[in-house]
Amino acid sequence: MPSVLITGASGFLGEHLAWRFERAGYTLYLTYSTQIPRSQAQGLYHIDLSKRGSLSSGLNDLASVDIVVHTAALADADRCEEDPLLARAINVEGTREVAQWAAYHGVRLIYVSTDLVYDGEKGMYTEDDVPRPINVYGSTKLQGEHIVRDLCASWAIIRLSLSYGPSKGKRGDWTRRMREDLAAGKDLYLFTDQYRTPVYVEDAAEAVLRLAETAATGIYHVGGSERVTRYEFGCTFARIFDLPMKKLHPIQMKDISAKAPRGRDCSLVTEKLSRELGICPCTVEQGLLRQKERESRGF
Ligand SMILES: NC(=O)c1ccc[n+]([C@@H]2O[C@H](COP(=O)([O-])OP(=O)(O)OC[C@H]3O[C@@H](n4cnc5c(N)ncnc54)[C@H](OP(=O)(O)O)[C@@H]3O)[C@@H](O)[C@H]2O)c1
Repeated sequence: MPSVLITGASGFLGEHLAWRFERAGYTLYLTYSTQIPRSQAQGLYHIDLSKRGSLSSGLNDLASVDIVVHTAALADADRCEEDPLLARAINVEGTREVAQWAAYHGVRLIYVSTDLVYDGEKGMYTEDDVPRPINVYGSTKLQGEHIVRDLCASWAIIRLSLSYGPSKGKRGDWTRRMREDLAAGKDLYLFTDQYRTPVYVEDAAEAVLRLAETAATGIYHVGGSERVTRYEFGCTFARIFDLPMKKLHPIQMKDISAKAPRGRDCSLVTEKLSRELGICPCTVEQGLLRQKERESRGF
């Protein structure tokens, strides 16, 4: 049976990856930091990537695996902006330790990066566009990419768009709060001038699995098939989950000040994903309907 080490398995994406790799017959080795993952794993490892040496000591009884998927990160852009030293420790130096571990064991590494490596001036980015991060989060994730490329012989990087989907984990995705607020009758203010290509998380997990099963080296964009604003996404979300649409209010980025600057349009072109890996990500409506159906079956 093939085996996979997934870092950050207690996170939103990690939870889905563990589930997808398990279903594909992999033996799971999972890391977490503060929340214990809900998954059947052969090995569960507590590591703190903000502390040097934590990875190697945490994994010292793990001889090797067939593949490493590195998702663990300080993934909250505003927190990264507030604490750039912590962001650097986890996202840059922590990634270096993961890449060193993979290189030492001669194991292929898949690193999950972000659409926020782009500045958002152009939109519909292809893998050939030059990244130019405008916040600490994007900058630390891009430095992580460089480390992976420098240290590992076999690697793939996915630049992931904003992801959404069901979750049983403590963290959940960014729509969880939106749903709770709308269900509680609160007003929600969403941007009409910030574009992304939101991706349903099971499509993202499928992309990672395919990359694990090929020898392809390179960068892959993983986004949904539709470029939408947060407001447009929110309206579809409210309609599908039967939440009060009148509580959604359109605003522009200039109307509020966020700690971390965000690009205006970080949408991704995913033609390479379809051509090379055979994955055609779904639209927002299709993804939310899949989410609803999975939740009705108690995901
Ligand atoms: N979700 C998105 O929309 C999105 C979009 C683009 C890129 N990404 C990338 O995808 C990856 C996963 O994102 P996510 O949304 O699943 O994030 P998440 O839900 O916040 O999960 C982050 C994971 O990293 C772990 N972690 C955090 N600090 C750590 C530390 N000091 N040492 C070890 N592990 C630590 C967390 O462990 P505990 O939970 O146990 O504390 C958790 O398992 C990240 O690399 C992120 O940059 C996500």
